[in-house]
Amino acid sequence: MTVPPFAVISGAQVQEALDGREKQIVELVEATYRLHGAGASVNPPSYFLRFPDRPSARIIALPASIGGPARVDGLKWISSFPENVANGIPRASAVLILNDHDTGYPFACLEASVISATRTAASAALAADWLSRGRERPTRVGFFGAGLIARYIHSFLAGTGWSFDEIGVHDLSADSAAGFCGYLERSGAAGPITVHPGAEQLVRSSDLVVFATVAGRPHVGDLSWFEHAPLVLHVSLRDLAPEILLASTNIVDDVEHCLKADTSPHLAEQLTGNRDFVAGTLDDVMAGRVTPPADRPLVFSPFGLGVLDLAVGKYVYDEVARSGELRVVDDFFSELGRYGRG
Ligand SMILES: NC(=O)c1ccc[n+]([C@@H]2O[C@H](COP(=O)([O-])OP(=O)(O)OC[C@H]3O[C@@H](n4cnc5c(N)ncnc54)[C@H](O)[C@@H]3O)[C@@H](O)[C@H]2O)c1
Repeated sequence: MTVPPFAVISGAQVQEALDGREKQIVELVEATYRLHGAGASVNPPSYFLRFPDRPSARIIALPASIGGPARVDGLKWISSFPENVANGIPRASAVLILNDHDTGYPFACLEASVISATRTAASAALAADWLSRGRERPTRVGFFGAGLIARYIHSFLAGTGWSFDEIGVHDLSADSAAGFCGYLERSGAAGPITVHPGAEQLVRSSDLVVFATVAGRPHVGDLSWFEHAPLVLHVSLRDLAPEILLASTNIVDDVEHCLKADTSPHLAEQLTGNRDFVAGTLDDVMAGRVTPPADRPLVFSPFGLGVLDLAVGKYVYDEVARSGELRVVDDFFSELGRYGRG
């Protein structure tokens, strides 16, 4: 048994490894959800580090272990500092540590804001595909919150075959809405792009609604906006009032994870005292154990699982290793003789 070499993988290398691989990554995320659903993973609750002096900020630790062919353990350590955006840098920054299955040694540190955005977008595209199967396929998408995650979700939808007749955008920040529209135009998105100054217009004119705001508590609570029974990807988790969820079919990625940390499903559980409003997980839908009805709003709330970061991170590691571009830090682990060097 030897100590594995330790590599550092930059954001540029991560982006190169993932570029144009939307279909493969969605397949990888699907396989990982199935593994997780079958119990071939360890995914304890995420740990939230918060600060009394910076209440909007947090750093989250997501430890996980994944079985199956990828077989790897590790940790994502991801910061969310929403005020960064006003200063011209992204909200989220992250690293992912991969640990060797046999020795436990960390063998790689990867830039992980791209990995995190990628697995989030791949999960959203996967959910859009599976959850639209029993209903009319959405043709009008609306982005509620138009930051980096919205951009990744759009590019994953486009990269997995979605095209839309209309794209709606709503953001509290006119600059964010304009920046996102600029991205959409450069991406060659077909159909008219409309910026909706009001949230209601956005929801009513979309049959696929993507929430990607940084709202800390629910701000959408009018049931009548959802009477056309849209498919909702509630990626930012805290936008919808519990009453909206109680009138919808709810699918999550993992029930234990999602009903925590003041997410809208957590608030719905607190309101009702039970979890009956959760129809099941995306894995349940993929396995045919749950078939959501077409005549109610359908809300997917993905808490975001560390196993997805690990699966995508290991994919990136393998791609970089295959290309011969691994940057190994020599002597990273140096104290290797139990009683010193002989
Ligand atoms: N569920 C998951 O697995 C997962 C993973 C990654 C990120 N996220 C979440 O995605 C969200 C978006 O992340 P991002 O990196 O794109 O952030 P960002 O800061 O780049 O963009 C967020 C945008 O939302 C807008 N916004 C905030 N409140 C709003 C409101 N009430 N109505 C309309 N617009 C509003 C902001 O103006 C901003 O443009 C975050 O909440 C993040 O926690 C979830």
